[in-house]
Amino acid sequence: MRSSERCLRPGMPMQVLQAKGARIPMVGLGTWDLRGRVCARMVEQALRLGYRHIDTAEMYDNERDVGEGVRASGVRREDVFITTKVWPSHFAPKDLQRAAKDSLARLRLSQVDLLLLHWPNPQIPLADTLAALCEVSRMGLARHVGVSNFTVALIREAARLAGDELVCNQIEMHPFLDQSKVTAACRSLDIGIVAYSPIAKGGAKNDILLDRIGKAHGKSAAQVSLRFLVQQGIAVIPRTSRVERLSENAAIFDFALTEAEMSAIARLARRDGRLVDYAFSGTPKWD
Ligand SMILES: NC(=O)c1ccc[n+]([C@@H]2O[C@H](COP(=O)([O-])OP(=O)(O)OC[C@H]3O[C@@H](n4cnc5c(N)ncnc54)[C@H](OP(=O)(O)O)[C@@H]3O)[C@@H](O)[C@H]2O)c1
Repeated sequence: MRSSERCLRPGMPMQVLQAKGARIPMVGLGTWDLRGRVCARMVEQALRLGYRHIDTAEMYDNERDVGEGVRASGVRREDVFITTKVWPSHFAPKDLQRAAKDSLARLRLSQVDLLLLHWPNPQIPLADTLAALCEVSRMGLARHVGVSNFTVALIREAARLAGDELVCNQIEMHPFLDQSKVTAACRSLDIGIVAYSPIAKGGAKNDILLDRIGKAHGKSAAQVSLRFLVQQGIAVIPRTSRVERLSENAAIFDFALTEAEMSAIARLARRDGRLVDYAFSGTPKWD
C-alpha cells in the first residue's frame, strides 16, 4: 500500500492510495444521509472543486442522486473514482450480482471503480459471497472489489479466499478510536484502508488538542483529524452537507503534522471509541 503525490487539478494537490493496482484518491466525499437535490448538488460541487472520489452505498438510498451529481459536474467519468457497497441481505451469490446491477442502474453507470461488501454477514458463507464478488468484477461491473467493517480475523480469511483481488477494507477511523490491530493486519496483506467517519461525525471539531494543533498550522481541528489519517497512508471520506466545508476538508495536503503531534493525537484513541454500530449481525469484534 503506497500513497503518492498527484495533482488532480491545478491548485489542488491530491494524493492517491495505491493498493493492488487500484488508485484511490486519498480524499473522497462521503454521502451517507445526503439525498435528493442536496446530495446531487454536493457531489457536483465537490467534483467541480477537485474531489475525484465519491462514496455511496445501496443502503444510502442516494445512488440516483450521486449519479446525477457526477453527470452535472461535467467531470469525465474516467476521472472520478466511485465506490458503492452491497448490503449484507444481498450476499447470496445470485442476489449479489443482482444488487450490483441494480446499483449501476441507479447510478446510470456501466461500472463502478470499487464495490464493497458493506458489513460482514455470518449467515452466508464468506467463500460464496467473495466468489460472487470476484465474479462481478470479472464481468466488468466493478473495476476493483473490497470489504468494509471486516475484523482482523475476517480480513485474513477474506484475503485467503479472494487472493489478490481485495484492494480495500473501509473501516471506522478517527483519532478517538484505536484501530491499530486491524490496520496492521490490512497493511500486512497490502489491503488499502479507507477511513469512514474520519472527523468522528463532526466530534473532532470540539477536541481541545486537535484545535490547539490546528491553530499552530492555521488549520481547523477537522483538518487535523483528516491529516492525521492521510499522513498514515489512509484514505478519508468525510461527509458534509455544506459547500464551504468541501474545500476545508480537502485542504489537508499543504501542511504536515510533526512526529510529536502525531504521537499526541494517537494517545486520544480508545478501544471503545466506536461511533458507528450495526444491528444486522450484532456488534463486530475488533481484534
Ligand atoms: N462502510 C460503512 O459502514 C460506513 C459507515 C459510516 C459512514 N460511511 C461513509 O463514510 C462517510 C463519512 O462518515 P460519517 O458521515 O459517518 O462522518 P464524518 O464524515 O466523520 O462526519 C460528518 C459530520 O461532520 C460534519 N462536518 C463535516 N465537515 C466538517 C468540518 N470541516 N468541520 C466540522 N464539522 C464537519 C458534518 O456536518 P455538516 O453536514 O453540517 O458539514 C457531519 O455532521 C459517510 O458519509 C459514508 O459515505 C461508511
